[in-house]
Amino acid sequence: MNKKYKVAVLPGDGIGPEIINEAVKVLSAIKKGMNISLQFEYADVGGVAYDNYGTSLPEQTLNTCKDSDAILFGAIGGPQYDNISIELRPEKALLKLRKELGLYINSRPALTFPSLINRSPIRREILKDGVDILIVRELSSGLYYGEPKKRISSEEAVDTMRYTKTEISRILTYAFEQAQQRDKKLTVVDKENVLQTSKLWREVVSSFESSYSDVEVDYMYIDNCTMQLVMNPHQFDVIVTENTFGDIISDEASALTGSIGMLPSASLGGQIGLYEPIHGSAPDIAGMNIANPIATILSASMMLENSFQLAREAEIIRKAINNVLEAGIRTPDISQENSQVVSTSEMGDAIVQEINRLLITNKVVE
Ligand code: IPM
Ligand code: MN
Repeated sequence: MNKKYKVAVLPGDGIGPEIINEAVKVLSAIKKGMNISLQFEYADVGGVAYDNYGTSLPEQTLNTCKDSDAILFGAIGGPQYDNISIELRPEKALLKLRKELGLYINSRPALTFPSLINRSPIRREILKDGVDILIVRELSSGLYYGEPKKRISSEEAVDTMRYTKTEISRILTYAFEQAQQRDKKLTVVDKENVLQTSKLWREVVSSFESSYSDVEVDYMYIDNCTMQLVMNPHQFDVIVTENTFGDIISDEASALTGSIGMLPSASLGGQIGLYEPIHGSAPDIAGMNIANPIATILSASMMLENSFQLAREAEIIRKAINNVLEAGIRTPDISQENSQVVSTSEMGDAIVQEINRLLITNKVVE
């Protein structure tokens, strides 16, 4: 046994605790099967932290995170917090965490599992054999953080979209590098016909082009992009975009894969990565044991790969998920004719069982 990894586990609200349980189960199976030292530290975040401590990001939670090698995050928010001030809302905890940990990259792969192609609302002739798009969302600036950001009066409020060259350059560096490792196509999504920040983004992009001459760059307005994603998703390889735009189009891209319950994310750029599903806390189905845990389990596999350099283990998780889906085992959001509909925990169990089988039969893909 070699390095010890400490994982801060922040289940949060709504379906958060249920989906996190399954991801921890899966990580525990990998830990046992591969003899890896993983240690889990739980902490409250979001609404549950607000209820217990009066703040959505308590000091001890932040310390637990800073003291860990990676963070596994569930989901936050709920209707009972809709009317408290924006500063105290559960969502604020995530924004503070991202800022505090210097997480400016949000990597959101939208990848179709072949057995789910017919679950997508998009016609087969458009979807063909599925998509493989990487959305790189800028996570630390833009409309989410720009100042001024306040309620001016009962009649007026302001948010600000602001970017500096440094912020744009560092996210572009990541996006260009990803494009180089994939199909070498980068789409910069903006609203250059209206926004000053988009003009600055384009200036910085053009200063990158000579250093990444193997990457084909194109520009697309955000409004057009939301349409192109469903009309012709195969034109995309890597998309890089502003914080809010990235939030919006990643939800949209999840529909290409069959369900928002399928899309993981990695927030990177600081010393400690944060891994979370792109979906929210789904209060309408919380506590019912029917949520799809796959986005969170895939997020855990991104954690193994990105934070711990355990690419082989991450691959085993993805393979197990693929095999379980191929076998027709499905949570309700991805069920199909003839599939076996299972609960959140049964889905986790099925994936663990498949991981164990792969570990035994393959003696692990050497
Ligand atoms: C996401 C979520 C968050 C965001 C919320 C919960 C603040 O929607 O991670 O996509 O807007 O970034
Ligand atoms: Mn979102």
